[in-house]
Amino acid sequence: MKENNRRIRITDTTLRDAHQSLWATRMRTADMLEIASEIDSAGYYSLECWGGATFDVCMRYLRENPWERLRALKKACPKTPLQMLLRGQNILGYKHYPDDIVERFVALACDNGMDIFRVFDALNDPRNVKTAIASVKKYGGHAQGTISYTTSPVHTIASYVKYAKELESMGVDSICVKDMAGILTPGAARELVSSLCKALPGTPVQIHSHMTSGMAAAMYLAAAESGAGCLDCAISSMSSFSSQPPCESMVAMLESEGFDTGLDMSRLQKINAYFKELARKRRPASSSKVDAVDAGVLVHAIPGGMISNLRSQLAQQGALDKLQEVLDELPRTRADLGYPPLVTPTSQIVGVQSAINVISGKRYSLVTDEVSRYAAGYYGRTPAPIEPKLRKKLCKGLKPIDCRPADLLKPGLAAAAAELPPNTIKAEEDILSYALFPEVALGYFKWRNADPASREPVPADLEDAGEKAAAPSAAPAASARPQDASASGKSVSGTPVLAPLNGTFYRAKDPGKPPMAADGAAVRQGDEVCVVEAMKLFNPIKATASGKITFLVEHGAAVSKGQPVAAIS
Ligand code: CO
Repeated sequence: MKENNRRIRITDTTLRDAHQSLWATRMRTADMLEIASEIDSAGYYSLECWGGATFDVCMRYLRENPWERLRALKKACPKTPLQMLLRGQNILGYKHYPDDIVERFVALACDNGMDIFRVFDALNDPRNVKTAIASVKKYGGHAQGTISYTTSPVHTIASYVKYAKELESMGVDSICVKDMAGILTPGAARELVSSLCKALPGTPVQIHSHMTSGMAAAMYLAAAESGAGCLDCAISSMSSFSSQPPCESMVAMLESEGFDTGLDMSRLQKINAYFKELARKRRPASSSKVDAVDAGVLVHAIPGGMISNLRSQLAQQGALDKLQEVLDELPRTRADLGYPPLVTPTSQIVGVQSAINVISGKRYSLVTDEVSRYAAGYYGRTPAPIEPKLRKKLCKGLKPIDCRPADLLKPGLAAAAAELPPNTIKAEEDILSYALFPEVALGYFKWRNADPASREPVPADLEDAGEKAAAPSAAPAASARPQDASASGKSVSGTPVLAPLNGTFYRAKDPGKPPMAADGAAVRQGDEVCVVEAMKLFNPIKATASGKITFLVEHGAAVSKGQPVAAIS
């Protein structure tokens, strides 16, 4: 046995990424508090416990206040720094928020006990992380700049080092290599980590990966040998599959190579026993159908979570048989879009467009609004430029921008506060929750303010909850269908406008906006007249002819692919 004189630290992801990857994010705060003091005493570098999907799921399904969870964990874990995942200018959502909301969110997170902020951007666009990083520094947190790792002709060691140097110039305290798909090989990790250590001496490098392809534990060892200072692991009963490598096994591997992790193995065993037992209550039944290792990732490089999302979205479209075709289409769509790393929100944008390219039968005959905004630069700079002719088509008339997307946004905090109905909220943190997830937060506040005796109970049915987690928007339940034109009492005469996908029919793009076309109005062929929301994205529907439009379906109704939603005569 070698003398263990090389130090390496472990971040525990059990309270965030592990249950987000394995349990549809359904761990309760009470579940965490019961074992918190053991975790706090185990010797971890930090505890990842907030951010990602936890915030949304807390309010939407668990009826918990995420801020309360943070305070409770801070109190229960005074010794170990708490860590969160922050999507830069997207905070925890899917769009860019104004700077004042980003700054206030970070300030309140710091106030409530958050220590380390892992700040990432799906496109590795430095402009999208600068406000978040500056805010973390301003309020005394540890800012961890993050490389969203992917492979493509434009993603090279040099390009990653260049981005890391940009992050360094913003004052980050450490760098994380975020390998969300689990595709970083030991060889590539060795090259990347040693290049980062050489280019940024004195800046610690942390590695985050998933066991999806089975490579992560070996890759971690290579990264440790190459100078990484910290690795993300989950306690073994919450590890592997699409989660992180198992902590105890990693400790044994590292010790055999002369590393000292400082972790107390007997405590790890206690912690593991606790989560093994908890899994009986919290693990969704569907997780037993998941492969231990998905070697397909080695070929298509699609993160595991994204495939399960695609699967449930295709199921809603009645097109599950097209999964392989969509997986084949995805790399092509990603290349067309300039090789974005596949992580929230780009994974959703690319995934849905790929699915639509396959289901519609003609590539880009239907372009989601999100793809238009992406192509026009509203998510940031694409890693590679999009071919000009295709870009023009994808933009659908939207004028491309060159500036930082958030520069176009007006301050939003006061407006969010003013929108809230009176007597809804209890503290400033509620305004932030509302600014990030308006409908979800309102639903939660309403539940919270109701008489406890009359409250709808928190769902315990995990299988059901897991399905909803894959499609949290207003995706129609199978039982809500079919609703055909004849059922609404109107018959089709004239040129029909057909729903291109299964989804929810809307007359307007935003809840408060007037209909895109009035019933009976004169429309021109090609005008956008309504929307079908499918797979979490809004798909504008164009008039198929010029003339007088008659809508056949109610706003908010579930529609099936090929169903007439309007007729033009
Ligand atoms: Co992850």
